[in-house]
Amino acid sequence: MKNQSQWKTSTGFILASAGSAIGLGAMWKFPYMAGVYGGGAFLLMFLIFTLLVGLPLLIMEFTVGKMGRTYTTKIYEKLTARKWLNIIGWNGNLAVFILFAFYSVIGGWIIIYLFRVLIQLISFNSASLNKINFDHIIANPWLTILGQGVFILLTMIIVMLGVEQGLEKASKFMMPLLFICLIVIVIKSLSLHGAMSGVRYILQPRLEDISIKGILFALGQSFFTLSLGTTGMITYASYASKEMTIKTSAISIVIMNIFVSVLAGLAIFPAISAFGYKPTEGPGLLFKVLPSVFEQMSFGTFIYFIFLILFLFAALTSSISLLELNVSNFTKNDNTKRKKVAIVASILVFLLSIPATLSFSSLSFIHFGAGTIFDNMDFLVSNILMPLGALGTTLVVGYLLKVDVLKQFFGNDRFKFFLPWYLLIKFVLPIIIIIIFIAQFF
Ligand code: TRP
Repeated sequence: MKNQSQWKTSTGFILASAGSAIGLGAMWKFPYMAGVYGGGAFLLMFLIFTLLVGLPLLIMEFTVGKMGRTYTTKIYEKLTARKWLNIIGWNGNLAVFILFAFYSVIGGWIIIYLFRVLIQLISFNSASLNKINFDHIIANPWLTILGQGVFILLTMIIVMLGVEQGLEKASKFMMPLLFICLIVIVIKSLSLHGAMSGVRYILQPRLEDISIKGILFALGQSFFTLSLGTTGMITYASYASKEMTIKTSAISIVIMNIFVSVLAGLAIFPAISAFGYKPTEGPGLLFKVLPSVFEQMSFGTFIYFIFLILFLFAALTSSISLLELNVSNFTKNDNTKRKKVAIVASILVFLLSIPATLSFSSLSFIHFGAGTIFDNMDFLVSNILMPLGALGTTLVVGYLLKVDVLKQFFGNDRFKFFLPWYLLIKFVLPIIIIIIFIAQFF
């Protein structure tokens, strides 16, 4: 996402923005959140929020990007002639900065697993995949810091070389492959003895499992998976060509995200009940459960390796846009400063990611607010900065932008629901975000 108007077609735009949006949120965070906050009840709330809140907000961010066409710490001033409103862009920038730091912890875990499985594969070692002990790995501070360092380094190199486009093109086949791989895992998982109670757990909403906290985190999850409030999606739309169709793109991304989240749920929960894991395992859930599923497959080690590559790819297409956002804001789209800014930002992110990773080992005793240091970073981003950013943008769009200009950018294609969308953005969504935002402090 370097130059303006770089995607000639709508499909190119969808691929790039979907690559950015679909990542650890759907595959890693969704199952772990659903496991902690009530399974089916969480899925139901997540679906409601994603369709009624997330989709209109995504359409809003695309519209703002298409109208403003510049980097996000400038776009609000450009659209409203009020400089101080750029604070919404800076809020987004702060959000992606912290997000990148804890995102890289999980990226590092993927890399460590990838190496473990690769070594097992090339040494024809037929030892059980279950030997890969998650608790053992994350208890090793040096190994995890190394893993996340490699993840950040990979991201930095891609951004410095400016080869994101190549990566985005590759997602044309990597994404479908990832979907297929997930479906294979789901089929295996569903065939396990005792799988059905896991299926019921994730698909059957039990009203008694709905809690205020669950509602809060389900909204945070919708924001996280759709990258809302971080201005990430605004940036993508600001680079897109005029032909890009906002609503078709937004709907495709929402559907893909729901699809991947549900698949991840159906891959994990049947295996949880079959093998007797705890759904409330937390951030390590996916990493603990999946080896047991691959263990049951023929060519399991090999398929696990392929899965980890695709998983890493999905995480990288997100992390490069996290870094890219910082680069475009701090270089003000001046490409000569690109390398320097990418390096400095990556080093700062790396430093910030160290306490995040240590909250699984030497700093695990530190507990406050939402939990460990890692939990608090996630909470700060998903439940505070992202909703605040989205709220700011709804107010700008609802009260400061001219309706007819908005309507023109919104487009007049197949989906002609401008008025309901506008009313939702202006009157309903700000109130929902404010209520849920305030509710968390009680
Ligand atoms: N949606 C991404 C995921 O699910 C995470 C994310 C949030 C993000 N905001 C972003 C990615 C901004 C890129 C840019 O993994």
